[in-house]
Amino acid sequence: MNATSISPQTLAINGGEPVRATLLPYGRQSVDEADIQAVIEVLRSDWLTTGPKVAEFEEAFAARVGAAHALTFSSGTAALHAAAFAAGLKPGDEAITTPLTFAATANCVLYQGATPIFADVCRDTLNLDPEQIASKISPRTRALLPVDYAGHPADLTPILEIAQRHGVAVIEDACHALGAEYEGKRVGSIADMTVFSFHPVKHITTGEGGMVATSNAQLAETLRRFRNHGISSEARQRQSAGQWHYEMVLLGFNYRLPDFACVLGLQQLKRLDANLARRREIAARYTAAFNQIPGVTSPEVRPGANPAWHLYPIRLDLEKLTTDRAQIFRALRAENIGVNVHYIPVHMHPYYRGQFGYEGGEYPVAEHAYEQLISLPMFHAMSEQDVEDVIHAVAKLAEHYGKR
Ligand SMILES: Cc1ncc(COP(=O)(O)O)c(C=O)c1O
Repeated sequence: MNATSISPQTLAINGGEPVRATLLPYGRQSVDEADIQAVIEVLRSDWLTTGPKVAEFEEAFAARVGAAHALTFSSGTAALHAAAFAAGLKPGDEAITTPLTFAATANCVLYQGATPIFADVCRDTLNLDPEQIASKISPRTRALLPVDYAGHPADLTPILEIAQRHGVAVIEDACHALGAEYEGKRVGSIADMTVFSFHPVKHITTGEGGMVATSNAQLAETLRRFRNHGISSEARQRQSAGQWHYEMVLLGFNYRLPDFACVLGLQQLKRLDANLARRREIAARYTAAFNQIPGVTSPEVRPGANPAWHLYPIRLDLEKLTTDRAQIFRALRAENIGVNVHYIPVHMHPYYRGQFGYEGGEYPVAEHAYEQLISLPMFHAMSEQDVEDVIHAVAKLAEHYGKR
C-alpha cells in the first residue's frame, strides 16, 4: 500500500495508524496502596493461612451477597468442584449445564465421575434455556448448573422450579456475576449454592481464589470439610482448644485460600459497589454507541435483571458485514483493542468430542452465537478515553467492512 492511500480511516491491519498506541486489555485487576499494605501486614503476622482473615472475608462476603454462609476456596474451579461434591454428584449421575461457558463449569461434574449434559441457551441472554433443561432431565439428573453468562443472571425462577419438581440441587456458576441482581434478589442468595471466582479479571480479586455462598448449614459444613482434606476441624480451632486430635470424615482436598489472599479480598470487597457502578456506566455508553452502528449488536438485558457486566460481548451481524469474526478480531487487535472470545462451546473442545462423541451441531443456538461473539474490553479502571477508543475502533471497522 503506498503512503498516499493511508487516511485516518485506513485500518491498522492494512498499514494505517492504530486507534491506540498501546494495547488495551479486555480485563485487568485494580490493586491500590491500601490493598498492598493490608497484605504486607498479614505477611508479618502469625497466620499466613487458616488464620483470622479467612472468616473475616467469608462473613463480609456472605453479608454482601445475602447468604447465611460463604466458604473460600483456592480458585473458582475448586469452589465448583466442592459444590459438585456437596450436591452429592457421583458416578452414574448427571448435571445439566450450558455449553457456552468456561470448561471448568462442566469439568467439575467430571471431577466427581458424573456426566455433564449440555442444554442449549436462550437466543437473547445466551444463558441456559429452561425449556431445553426440561427436555434433558432424566432419572439420573442430580444437579442443574446454570451460568450467569457475562454477568447477566440466568433465568433462575423457572430453573429453581424445575429443580424443585425433580428434587435436584441448583449450583449457580456466578463467576461472572458478583453483584448482579435477579428479580430484586442478590445473586448469591437465590440458588442452593452459588460459586464465585476472584481471578484478576473479575469484579474483585485475590490473585487466584473462589467462594461458595449458601444458606444451607449442612452444605456449608460439607464445603468447609471438603476444602480441608475432609477434616472435621481446622488448625486454628485445634490450636485455640489446645488439642491435637482430628478426624478425616470424607475424602477432601487442600483447596484453602491463604490469609494474605483473604485480606486482599476483604479490601477489594469494599470497592465492589464502585467497581459495579463503573462497569454499568461503561456498558451503558457502549450500548448507546453500538445502537447506532450497523452490523454490531449489544448484549441484551432482560427486565428484572441487573447484570454485573464481567464481560461485554458484542455479536456481529455477519449478514451485514463483508467479512467474518476472525478478521474483525484480528483487525481490532491491530487497532490495539484487546478483544477476546467467550466461549468456544465446551462440547466442541477435543476432550469433550473424544469422550462423548460430539460432532458439532448439537447445540445450534450456542454454536451460532459463538461464530458471532467478540468480548470488548470491560474493567472498572477503564478511563473515558479507553471507552471512546473502543467505540472508535468498532465504528472504524464497521465502516470498512459494512455492506453497502
Ligand atoms: C464461568 C466460569 N466458571 C468458572 C471459572 C473458573 O474460575 P477460576 O479461574 O477462579 O478457577 C471461570 C473463570 O474464568 C468462569 O469464567
